[in-house]
Formats: sequence, structure tokens, C-alpha cells
Amino acid sequence: MSRFGNDPLSFFNAVYEATPPWDIGMPQPAMSDLLATYPPAGPILDVGCGSGDLSIYLARLGHKVLGVDFVEAAITGANKKLASLPSELASLVTFKVADALKPSLLEEQFGAIVDSGFLHLFDTMQGERFVAELGEILLPKGRYYLHAFSIDFQIPGVPRKIDADEVQTLFTAEKGWQIKDIQSAQFLSRVAEPVPAICACIERL
Ligand SMILES: C[S@@+](CC[C@H](N)C(=O)[O-])C[C@H]1O[C@@H](n2cnc3c(N)ncnc32)[C@H](O)[C@@H]1O
Repeated sequence: MSRFGNDPLSFFNAVYEATPPWDIGMPQPAMSDLLATYPPAGPILDVGCGSGDLSIYLARLGHKVLGVDFVEAAITGANKKLASLPSELASLVTFKVADALKPSLLEEQFGAIVDSGFLHLFDTMQGERFVAELGEILLPKGRYYLHAFSIDFQIPGVPRKIDADEVQTLFTAEKGWQIKDIQSAQFLSRVAEPVPAICACIERL
């Protein structure tokens, strides 16, 4: 069973009945710093985009972005934010309800994939399958940007730890990846102290 029960969609639907703890009204600063250090190429896929702040931030940088989340309320909130933007900016972003664990079903190729708190929701086997799909949908030299908890609370309904060793095992040269950087970081929330986290930028060969 997943850390989010037998029915993760119901779990996340319930969280979105209020403002989720991770919804800080802006992109996670660690992710925007990583993107500034290792600039992405478009088009960009935002997996588990939540209410869309990171996608909109990337559009402000001039990128075409597809934000995907499986919670309808999250996508409705994201689309409300889009509606308040100038049309030229809003036209760069599409939000879609879909399973971001299976990004190959989107049948699109991307220059970059941003993952702000997504991979750490899943167990190692699901993570391996997800990473294999990322390899299929990233263009050559495309980059995957990861931001995840680096400590394990061992509490149901809370993401798991992803450490540098796991990143190095998931993204090897044999599997077609080059790790550009792995950094210690923080994951901010609305409700608690910052959580120790990891950020990584990984490039498709
Ligand atoms: C920790 S939140 C992060 C949200 C956003 N990226 C941010 O930084 O604020 C994880 C998000 O992943 C979404 N999610 C979980 N499993 C999913 C799946 N299989 N497909 C699409 N979205 C999923 C949740 O609904 C939630 O919005």
C-alpha cells in the first residue's frame, strides 16, 4: 500500500479541500534557485503541479509549460490563477488533470521536467518506472529538476526520504543520465518548520 493509503487520489482530493501545506503561494525557493543555476529549455512539464505557481513562474521566464496534476481542485485553482494573467503570458501555460506518474501517456516530448515534491510521494519501484518514462519523454540534453524531502518522518501521509545515493542509483550513465548537481536544500511549508530536502539537476544524454 502507498504511504497515502489504498486510494492516493482520495487522500489528495481531501487535502485540497483546504489550502495544502505545500501551497506556499510561490515556487519553492530551492527549485527557483536550481532553475536559475541550470537554466531549463522548453517546453517544460511540471509533474504534480498543484495549484500551478511553479508553472506560472516558468511561463514568466518565457517558457511554454504543461502542468499536470491528478486532483481536479488543484487544476481548477491553477486555471483560476491563469485567468487573472495577461493573455500573452497565460497562453504559454496549459494545466491538465492527468496521472503524472505515467507521463509517456501525454505523448509529448519536453526540454525540461520540473518535480517539486512529486517523486518523494512514491515507493522505489514506482520511482524507477517513473524515471524510465522520464527518459522516454525528455529531448536529448533535456533536464529533470528534482526537489524532495531528505529525511524520513515514517508517518503515513507524509512523503518519504530521497537521498543522494538514491538519486545516483536512479540516474546512471548506463541508463542515459548525467547528474549535473545534487544539493542540500529546504522544503518550505505553510504549517511547519522548513524540512531538510535535496535538489538535483539531471541531464538526459
Ligand atoms: C507535495 S504536492 C506538490 C505540489 C506542487 N508541485 C508544489 O510544489 O506546490 C504533490 C502534488 O502531486 C499530486 N499528485 C500526487 N500523485 C499524483 C499522480 N499520480 N498524478 C498527478 N499528480 C499527482 C498531488 O495532487 C499534489 O498536488
